[in-house]
Amino acid sequence: MGSRLMIRLWLSVALNLLFIEAIQAARTVYTFEDAAHLSAFTRSPTSTLERTTTRYKDGTNSLKWTWTSGDEITHSFTSDIIERSELRGGGIKLWLYNTHKRTGVDETLTVSFLDTLTTSGSPTTVSQFKISLNFKGWRGIWVSYKESKLVSGDIDTMKITAPTTNETTHPLFIDLLRLVSKLSKQTRDEIVPTIGQGIYTPNNFWQQTYRWSLVRFL
Ligand SMILES: *[C@@H]1O[C@H](CO)[C@@H](O)[C@H](O)[C@H]1NC(C)=O
Repeated sequence: MGSRLMIRLWLSVALNLLFIEAIQAARTVYTFEDAAHLSAFTRSPTSTLERTTTRYKDGTNSLKWTWTSGDEITHSFTSDIIERSELRGGGIKLWLYNTHKRTGVDETLTVSFLDTLTTSGSPTTVSQFKISLNFKGWRGIWVSYKESKLVSGDIDTMKITAPTTNETTHPLFIDLLRLVSKLSKQTRDEIVPTIGQGIYTPNNFWQQTYRWSLVRFL
């Protein structure tokens, strides 16, 4: 066999392996274009979750969450837990649309990553961060599990908790929600209060989410 052919064969094997690994690592990107994406999320009985075309960051649909004080959205993936390198290197990316600014320190969403399997009936919060709702429009949020880590543990469930509030509530819209296996550069705007340091320094070239969040969509 000619050496050129051998090289091409090896290259094709190597590319195939890379491709297979990429497929295995990928989790669903929740664009809510597909009706099945809705069923991956459950909600408190006092909430509603629906797909809507009223707002969207990608395609023509997003997830509309009509909530009351303290409600939750839960997304479980107990048969495909986040562990090892995905836990060390990964994180969440999502886009959030708020129709009305919510002022007040407690007007925040809390995003929690849970281990519900190790101690059944008593979930451990492995990682957690807050999103201020004091903004109107779309905002992009990228946060790594490591950055918001509280204790050691694998992750099998994500929970988003609404503020505990007596103020009027308005629906929130979520789009392009993705649990990624690699989130090497943090990038988001200032609705997620600084965790650690240096993320908002002007010389952090990769801190671009706020710029993109200003691009106008519906
Ligand atoms: C909501 O109103 C009740 C009754 O006035 C009060 O006890 C409670 O602390 C308020 N909750 C918040 C989150 O402001």
